[in-house]
Amino acid sequence: MTDDGGGPPAIEATGLRYAYPDGTPAVDGVDVTVAEGERVALLGPNGAGKSTLLQILGGLIDPDDGEVRYFGETGDADAVRDRLSVLTQDPADYLFNPTVREDLAYGPAQQDLPDGETDRRVDRVAARLDLGELLSKPPFRLSGGEQRRAALASALTVEPDALLLDEPVSNVDAANRAAILDLLDELAAEGVTLVVSTPETELVPHVADRVVLLDADGRVAATGSTREILTDADLLTDCDLRPPQVVRLFDGLTDDVPLTVTEAETRLDDTDDS
Ligand SMILES: Nc1ncnc2c1ncn2[C@@H]1O[C@H](COP(=O)(O)OP(=O)(O)OP(=O)(O)O)[C@@H](O)[C@H]1O
Ligand SMILES: [Mg+2]
Repeated sequence: MTDDGGGPPAIEATGLRYAYPDGTPAVDGVDVTVAEGERVALLGPNGAGKSTLLQILGGLIDPDDGEVRYFGETGDADAVRDRLSVLTQDPADYLFNPTVREDLAYGPAQQDLPDGETDRRVDRVAARLDLGELLSKPPFRLSGGEQRRAALASALTVEPDALLLDEPVSNVDAANRAAILDLLDELAAEGVTLVVSTPETELVPHVADRVVLLDADGRVAATGSTREILTDADLLTDCDLRPPQVVRLFDGLTDDVPLTVTEAETRLDDTDDS
């Protein structure tokens, strides 16, 4: 049960362990629970095992040890395939049809939807991510950032209850990054569960309320609120990370350190007004 006494967690993973076939250990004894509707970041340095863990949580990799349960069900990820959407780090995993439109339609076409619903979803998501002009193009002719947006769009057209995203805004320009983050906010407001993997502390306050911090050895170094983790410079340094710039700037100046530039602007405006 979740802390609030509500329904079962969206994702409940215990004792996860995984080494790649060449013997490289990637995930080494990890427990992760994500409540329904929660926004959680998997934060850690390069090579920490974030992508591996995200793929285990999304049912794309079978762990050597441990288990993952979804929405309190006993089945594996296939049993909840319609409710779960995973975006891996490589957009090419999702872009294999002759056109971007067909890639976006691929997921919903597997669902038993009323006539026209797939097209409506594709058009709606494409408009939100500014992909309209690109729908008729072959996906391999898109730029890297465009491919990332198209891959994200293909994860959204299935309208999942839980969305697992590996570095959703890497390689994306500022305007599109803002559009993606706005869209993730809207999805969270609708109750969609979000798990985002990233090595960037700067991104975390925009996508998560809680952080699972991984160390370089594929273990959980700490879990806590976004504020607790991002303001603990020593803890982050131990994991080869640094607090966001604005946190470093305000450190020691106020008890209520802003985590984002927008929060900092609000604090400064309040100071001006008083
Ligand atoms: N296919 C593979 N075969 C062997 N080792 C792998 C493979 N993929 C990843 N690894 C290793 O597993 C470990 C975890 O890799 P993973 O990709 O999960 O890290 P990550 O935290 O996502 O890193 P990044 O921030 O660079 O994306 C690393 O040591 C990596 O070298
Ligand atoms: Mg990765």
